[in-house]
Amino acid sequence: MKYTVIIAGLLAIKLSGYAQQATTDKSKMDIFITDLMGRMTLEEKIGQLNLVTGGDATTGAVVSTDVEAKIKAGKIGGIFSMTTVPRIRAAQELAVNHSRLKIPIIFGMDVIHGYKTIFPIPLGLAASWDTTLIEETARIAAIEASADGLNWTFSPMVDISRDARWGRISEGSGEDTYLGSRIAEAMVHGYQGDDLSADNTLMACVKHFALYGAAEAGRDYNTTDMSLHRMYNEYLPPYKAAIDAGAGSVMTSFNDINGVPATANKWLMTDVLRHQWGFDGFVVTDYTAVNELIDHGLGNLQEVSARSLKAGVEMDMVGEGFLTTLKKSVEAGKVSEADIDRACRLVLEAKYKLGLFDDPFRYCDENRAAKAILNPTHLAKAREAAGKSFVLLKNDEQLLPLKKQGTMALIGPLANTGSNMPGTWSVSADLENTPSLLEGMREVLGDTMKIIYHPGSNLLADSSYQERATLFGRTIPRDDRPEAELIAEALEVARQADVVVAALGESSEMSGESSSRTDIGIPAVQQRLLAELLKTGKPVVLVLFTGRPLTLTWENEHVPAILNVWFGGTETGKAVADVLFGDVNPSGKLPATFPQHVGQLPLYYSHKNTGRPLGEGQWFQKFRSNYLDVSNDPLYPFGYGLSYTTFTYDEPVLSTDTLQRKGNLQVSVEVSNTGSYAGEEVVQLYIRDLVGSVTRPVKELKGFQKIQLAPGQSQRVVFDLTEEDLKFYNADLEYAAEAGEFIVFIGTNSRDVQEKHFFLID
Ligand code: BGC
Repeated sequence: MKYTVIIAGLLAIKLSGYAQQATTDKSKMDIFITDLMGRMTLEEKIGQLNLVTGGDATTGAVVSTDVEAKIKAGKIGGIFSMTTVPRIRAAQELAVNHSRLKIPIIFGMDVIHGYKTIFPIPLGLAASWDTTLIEETARIAAIEASADGLNWTFSPMVDISRDARWGRISEGSGEDTYLGSRIAEAMVHGYQGDDLSADNTLMACVKHFALYGAAEAGRDYNTTDMSLHRMYNEYLPPYKAAIDAGAGSVMTSFNDINGVPATANKWLMTDVLRHQWGFDGFVVTDYTAVNELIDHGLGNLQEVSARSLKAGVEMDMVGEGFLTTLKKSVEAGKVSEADIDRACRLVLEAKYKLGLFDDPFRYCDENRAAKAILNPTHLAKAREAAGKSFVLLKNDEQLLPLKKQGTMALIGPLANTGSNMPGTWSVSADLENTPSLLEGMREVLGDTMKIIYHPGSNLLADSSYQERATLFGRTIPRDDRPEAELIAEALEVARQADVVVAALGESSEMSGESSSRTDIGIPAVQQRLLAELLKTGKPVVLVLFTGRPLTLTWENEHVPAILNVWFGGTETGKAVADVLFGDVNPSGKLPATFPQHVGQLPLYYSHKNTGRPLGEGQWFQKFRSNYLDVSNDPLYPFGYGLSYTTFTYDEPVLSTDTLQRKGNLQVSVEVSNTGSYAGEEVVQLYIRDLVGSVTRPVKELKGFQKIQLAPGQSQRVVFDLTEEDLKFYNADLEYAAEAGEFIVFIGTNSRDVQEKHFFLID
């Protein structure tokens, strides 16, 4: 039975709550919780560890049942995917008025890149390299979601990914440890603000701990086997950054890590997370991840539930392994009451920190949603964020920006589908009311320009593949007439226009969860359409929709202008018009490498040198580390993105070429806008440690600054380097900088840099 139905008819019942001091003072919290736990039965404690779904959006096959009865029996600690104040209030009333101990429920949701006002997908937001902007988007998401009754979000997702076959690369910040860490902090600050108990903040949940983005072969949920050295240096820092920023909770990942799945991994959840990093929040599993330990081969439900709890997991999402087996395990001596107490205390502490004992209805103000959700300020920020996320990949002979005059042919299966604009993992988006690219552009252009439209092709030639790629209401209608007929009609439209804008690429559900691909090109049927459009001789601009790096080798060779717009959220259409017509100058830079060929994956700029590196600018050399058929180079490197203006970099200057351990070194560079548009540039600083006790990457991002320059304007950009920036985990996992020679690189992307050398001295 659907929970929606059960609670809909409930009357508001007088609340009897707890008197909690409005303070999160630790000792007061301890006293309060110790007293409460002293009155709880073992079953009630186990109940707090149970997280069920409210059914508004489900991401797995199993859906919770009997929720109302379980709330009354004290068998539910949290509910997720239940929205709107009336529904949440009704469920909370059941808990605080009808359960024996009246313990409030925590309400979660996947608020990933906006709640109702949807911002670009996280990979797109990362392309802005603008942590202030990203923090603002998380703040707005928290304001809107909390106005709808929620107090907990399953975000940020900080999984580093270097394999674009993996669909969930769209949900994170891309391939880089440093950029990913800065974004992780910004998002936690945005969600949680300064006061977790304020009614407009959400508790963050950093996920998926850990290494979920390193799934073998880019196949979702697949195994990860990784050296500790790589984990500590490259994959773990963004999770740690989120925790250091105060994230209140952590979600386990689905994958196996070196033989022990994360959800049962004591080393990870207790040794690393609790002991090494000092995390004091609670850990929730991913969707039915405890139950999935059975398929991983770790035993039956009772065994895996006990193992997961003892590993350091506190809350069980949806699968109810904890609820149904932990008592038996206590009785059998497999789990101690102390294990249950530990978990229960951490869950109750989270509720205390959110202020729920003080006022369980803190997030249930019926008047807030109408004012907060989709308000003009939020929409304006969404439009700004979308514009800043777009990456100009190519712009031959300054085809862009376009002039607002004449006729534009807007062609392609992504041109008129509003439901695809929010992008994957926007589960609370109002798909019906999201304008399509065509609608958004028409609104901006008004009468200045005529837009004529044709879909030109299906999303995919194979109808069953298209079905798999348009789930969850992200529709793209199919036209099953012969391909040639559709192309002929589209060409007819194109011929009437002065310029052709081709809206092609992936649908939103071609990336995201369980959406891995082996061929990461633009679908062939769309590529054939593009080739025909180019033959018309009209100027063609490719507006590319994608949730991952794609292989665009053919497009890069043949299409004069390519603007990658990812999935830009609610205001995509307007933001694309802003950029195409030059009201906004693109400034996005790739947060993940675009390969030439899928066979190069995993491909990332901060790789090791190997003992047989290829010489600078070379392609194939026998007995060197390379391929026979494709060079090692990416198509577009990490950090790459063009602007309508040009920036020149003078030679970088170092304040000294010897850095003392306690000293600092200033690296500065004069950057000038030498073109004719105002624009923003992301100045990037990388280092290389030339000799180490262990091998070090050929480049590592250690700083970036986004600056704004008017035409003709220059600015000296200064970076401060200290010993801290040079530290890494050595073979014994000691975090230290080693004396010796370093290179510092400064440039406009990870490839086009100038370098200087310096020494770290003892
Ligand atoms: C996803 C998580 C998500 C959870 C709850 C899972 O399938 O992996 O990222 O938070 O569902 O919706």
